[in-house]
Amino acid sequence: MKSLINHKYPSVSDLRKRAMLKIPKFAFEYLDGGCNDDVNIKKNTNRIRDIELKPNYLVDYKPPKLKTKLFGHEYDSPFGIAPIGLQCLMWPNSPQILAKAAFKYNIPFILSTVSTASIETIAQITEGNAWFQLYHPADEKVTKNILKRVEEAGLPVLVILADVPSFGYRPRDIRNGLSMPPKMTLSNIVNALKRPHWSLKTLLNGQPNFETLKPYMPKNLSLNQLAKFMDSTFDGRLNEEKIKRIRDLWKGKLVIKGTESLYDIKKAVDLGLDGVIISNHGGRQVDAGQATIDSLKTIYPVYKDKITIMMDSGIRGGADIARVMSCGANFTFLGRTFMYGVSALGIKGGNHTIEMLNKQLTQVMDQLSCAEIDDLKKMLVL
Ligand SMILES: Cc1cc2nc3c(=O)[nH]c(=O)nc-3n(C[C@H](O)[C@H](O)[C@H](O)COP(=O)(O)O)c2cc1C
Repeated sequence: MKSLINHKYPSVSDLRKRAMLKIPKFAFEYLDGGCNDDVNIKKNTNRIRDIELKPNYLVDYKPPKLKTKLFGHEYDSPFGIAPIGLQCLMWPNSPQILAKAAFKYNIPFILSTVSTASIETIAQITEGNAWFQLYHPADEKVTKNILKRVEEAGLPVLVILADVPSFGYRPRDIRNGLSMPPKMTLSNIVNALKRPHWSLKTLLNGQPNFETLKPYMPKNLSLNQLAKFMDSTFDGRLNEEKIKRIRDLWKGKLVIKGTESLYDIKKAVDLGLDGVIISNHGGRQVDAGQATIDSLKTIYPVYKDKITIMMDSGIRGGADIARVMSCGANFTFLGRTFMYGVSALGIKGGNHTIEMLNKQLTQVMDQLSCAEIDDLKKMLVL
């Protein structure tokens, strides 16, 4: 079975195509789409692919090793699984499936506050090795309680999010009734019925919930009440005061995600943060921005010795990971790629996607005669 999967889905675009056929249109479009006119989502990948690496063949060859140290942990690969909200909309139990795969292959899995599995469940699956991404509760008591749960679960890294001061303007989600408040439109019901495997699995697993937020939510909310709850519970805009308070409360590693400017990175460094994930939310928030790879190229030379620099947005395969690492990133994250994998292949999707990326990256490094991930920087055509 495994070799059949390898044979049928050897690339991210194969997984994406399969996912499109396997899950209802509203779920696929929620996952796949960007904001406004999809300019940035395309630019993210296109600009990564403008990067060229030049091999030296006549060298003292050693086989490639993908192991990468990050925050004192040696991961088996230089990539991890980015936080995704509402994961069960795409496939039931997808956070659990991905967390299990991440633990098995020793890569980080980041749980979103608005995902559909709880902090405690994911901590148990990963034996305390997952990271947690915090949306910003308006009520300080909720923040403190969430941070206490993350600490008690033993998770080593907290990721705070900068790039959702307001919801992205996403035309597909608006058309499909997935903006706030969500609506189950007739066309969504028809679409779900056209995907019987998804419908059956979803029915069997019951209605997905925001498990991490359950203790703070009134029971049995209608969709309209849920929208009001989300609006009043979260205050997305991050500022220095909030970061200072979180820095004081959180003793583990603290990472900011969604920052792209030298201005924000300087603040992050000054506020004592440990890392940054240069990200534009996979082109879902601002359509007039820069590709993240271009932000990385600006930020890396200035801040490489001051803060751990990671990047996501637009990475669609092992060769892309090689390109991003060659520009100085200490680590990479992928969002949609992993969700395409699970949407396409269900419980096998996590393992398959990681194995595929490992194979693709190993092949690129082998071809470039790079023994270590760090060697990729020497191959960059300037
Ligand atoms: C469907 C979807 C939901 C997302 N939800 C979250 C979230 O809850 N928290 C978060 O920090 N980022 C979220 N992101 C952004 C991802 O963490 C990541 O930055 C992005 O997917 C990277 O781009 P890529 O999909 O091109 O790899 C989401 C992205 C997608 C596609």
